[in-house]
Amino acid sequence: MPGPLIPSRHGLPADDPIFALHAEAMALAATGRPVLDATVGSLLDESGQLVVLDSIMDLWRQLTAQEVAPYSAIAGDPAYLRGLVQRAWPDLTHPGCACATPGGGGALALSLRMFLEPGQVLLSADPWWAAYPTIAAEGGVQLAGLPWPAAGAPLDVRAWHTAAEALMARQGRLLFWLNDPCHNPTGRSLAAGDRAALGTLLTDLARRGPVTLLLDLAYPDYARDPAEVASALAAYGRLGAEGAVLVGAAHSLSKAFTLYGARAGALAFPWTRDRDLQAALVTAARGLWSNCARAPQSVVLRLLRDGKAQAHLAAEHRHWSEVLEARALALDAALRAEGLAGAPWQGGFFVTLPLGDPAGVGARMRGDGVFAVPVRGGLRVGICGLRAVDAPRFAAALRRALGD
Ligand SMILES: Cc1ncc(COP(=O)(O)O)c(C=O)c1O
Repeated sequence: MPGPLIPSRHGLPADDPIFALHAEAMALAATGRPVLDATVGSLLDESGQLVVLDSIMDLWRQLTAQEVAPYSAIAGDPAYLRGLVQRAWPDLTHPGCACATPGGGGALALSLRMFLEPGQVLLSADPWWAAYPTIAAEGGVQLAGLPWPAAGAPLDVRAWHTAAEALMARQGRLLFWLNDPCHNPTGRSLAAGDRAALGTLLTDLARRGPVTLLLDLAYPDYARDPAEVASALAAYGRLGAEGAVLVGAAHSLSKAFTLYGARAGALAFPWTRDRDLQAALVTAARGLWSNCARAPQSVVLRLLRDGKAQAHLAAEHRHWSEVLEARALALDAALRAEGLAGAPWQGGFFVTLPLGDPAGVGARMRGDGVFAVPVRGGLRVGICGLRAVDAPRFAAALRRALGD
């Protein structure tokens, strides 16, 4: 007799692949082996402790019962939504069609219900965050990859064009998830010219059917050059304002405010006021999770009223961006000292080292007690958790795993 679990839910992995590798690293460390764990996706300080931004926790500690306990509106607090949108596009005065979500992950999931029919295909740049395939599958759509450019190489606009055009002909609509700037897992951003070419491509495609570009903005606060991030976002803002392509963003408080566990974010399309889209967002949110947590929204509202806290937060972001840059540079130097290719980094918590057989290389490194995440075409290294002093050991283990 079949069990209560329906057949289509059998055989799924028990744990997210990254959490599973991290658990393996922790288990090995517990036996006393010296372990280097570059799998984690949270920012850790030099003693391996989770970084929690003081500016944010100071605000959190001030919250009153009324800022924590009541239900929030299903769409989320309007000032919270506006505040998140203005972090990316400071000139905007309205969040457009927007809805609070449990993190950026919730925003990505919600977008699938808005812009694709079940069974249709979502496009994104590959390699991608390991949760993308799961979010897509749970949303009842397929995920197809377009190549993210190699370091120093331009975007393969022809490949993007061919795949997107064929898909438009098949399904009459397109949804792109784009984790730019500060891409997970490569730690690089598109070049300005690539972004312009992509804008032209999407605008052309939008003559044939609806095109939605959803920017996955998980890491822009942690960048080598904040001015580059601002100009990237401004370019996307211009594309959104033109109106041919529906441009929006999945916002997340997880890395931006180190409020990973508060599960807060938003899905916002600032350049439209389409009532049907707003109603669809709120209806789907109600059917999926109802209201989001009020406390993190209240933190954002306090931040918006507190110039000192804003300055403190900006200084903390700068500090930790510099720490990440120092770690990326140390890894780059250590890899080169081993005769390997370096690790260019522009922003975010990771770099990806391009190599063949990532699964095999990753497994051999684990034999040395060194953990990183195999992704398509390489190994993802969480510089958010890999101290600069540990870079030489990491690089030596990689060279051994590749064979001398
Ligand atoms: C690329 C990317 N997008 C979105 C998220 C969403 O995070 P959360 O759901 O915690 O906001 C993450 C988190 O790791 C990420 O790496």
